[in-house]
Amino acid sequence: MKNQNILVVGATGRVGREMLSILQEIGVPAQNIGVVASERSVGQTILYGKNSLEVKDINSINFSEYDYALFSAGSAVSAKYAPKVAESGCIVVDNTSFFRMKKDIPLIVPEINFDVLGRYNSKIISNPNCSTIQMVMVLKPLHDTFGLQEVVVSTYQATSGAGQKGVDELMEQTELVLHGKTATSHHFKRQIAFNIIPQIDEFSSSGYTKEELKMMNETKKILDKSDIIITATCVRVPVIVGHAVSVFARFDKPVDIQLAYQVLSNFPGVKIIDNPERYEYATPIDCASKNDVYVSRLRKHPDMENALSFWCVADNVRKGAALNAIQIVQRLVAQQ
Ligand code: A2P
Repeated sequence: MKNQNILVVGATGRVGREMLSILQEIGVPAQNIGVVASERSVGQTILYGKNSLEVKDINSINFSEYDYALFSAGSAVSAKYAPKVAESGCIVVDNTSFFRMKKDIPLIVPEINFDVLGRYNSKIISNPNCSTIQMVMVLKPLHDTFGLQEVVVSTYQATSGAGQKGVDELMEQTELVLHGKTATSHHFKRQIAFNIIPQIDEFSSSGYTKEELKMMNETKKILDKSDIIITATCVRVPVIVGHAVSVFARFDKPVDIQLAYQVLSNFPGVKIIDNPERYEYATPIDCASKNDVYVSRLRKHPDMENALSFWCVADNVRKGAALNAIQIVQRLVAQQ
C-alpha cells in the first residue's frame, strides 16, 4: 500500500476518521493521502500520526493523481462525484448505498466474494451495509456447508451507524435526561437516549424500512443466491459503537452444530465467543475497535433439525464500513 495514493472523501466523518486511522495502522504515509470534506471543513487540518492533512474541497482535487478513492460522505456526494473519479482512472470504493444494487457494480466483502470482481468491468466497487457485512460473514460458511434457505434477522444498531451526528445526539440527549431536562430529537425520529427505535432510514411502501431492504437485497447479491427468503427488522439502540444482530437461519440440510462451530472457526475474520455457562458471549463494548466479527449463542432449533440461531456483534464503523473498504483496496493492490 506504500506507493498508492488514496483519497478519503468524507474524511472528517465517523467512517472517514476510522479509514484514516486504519490507513495509518497499515503504514500508508501521510504524503500519499488526500482528505476531502464539506465546505464547512475545508482548510481545517486532520492529525495523521505526526503529520497534519489539510481538508480540501472535492472540486479542487485532480482525481487522476489518486489510485483509490474511499467515499463515505453520503449518497448524494457519491452519486455526483464517484463516476467522475472513476472516469479519471482512479478506483472508487463507495461506502454509501447508492451503487450497491446496480447490476454492473460489484458489492464486495473480501472474505466472501472478492473473486466476483473479475466478472465486472467497473472502477466503482460498493461496500455493503454495515449490518449486512457482519451477518453474511457468519452466514457464508454456514451456507457453504448446509445450504441457506431462509433468514429471520433483528438488528440492534449503534448510533455511530448514523455518522457522528447520531453519536452526538445520543450524548446530548443522555446528558439532558440525566439532568431532568427534556431531550429533543434532531436526527433520529424519536428519543434515542434510554430508548430503542424500530426505524432506521426511511420507510418504503412495502412497510419495510430502506435499511431492512438493504439487508435483504444485499445478502442475496453477496451470497449470489437470489432465492434466499429473508426478513429483517432493524432497530437503533443507545450504543455508540458495535452493531448486534440476532439471526434465525434455516438450511437445506440438517445442521450438525459441531460442524457449524468448525466451519465458523476456520472462516477468516470470524471469532467465536460462546460459553454461556461462564457468561461468555460478545457484546458491542467487547467488539469496539476490533477487526473481527464475533459470533455467540450458536444453537440448534429444538424442533427443526435444519435450523439454527446465533448472535453476532461487530464494530460497525470498522468491519461494517472503513475496514471492509480498505481490505478491498489491500486485496486489489496485492493482486497488481
Ligand atoms: P463535514 O464534516 O465537513 O460535514 P458523518 O457520516 O459522520 O456525518 O460524516 C459525513 C462526512 O461527509 C463528513 O466528513 C462530511 O464533512 C462529509 N460531507 C458531507 N457533505 C459533503 C460534500 N458535499 N462534499 C464532501 N464531503 C461532504
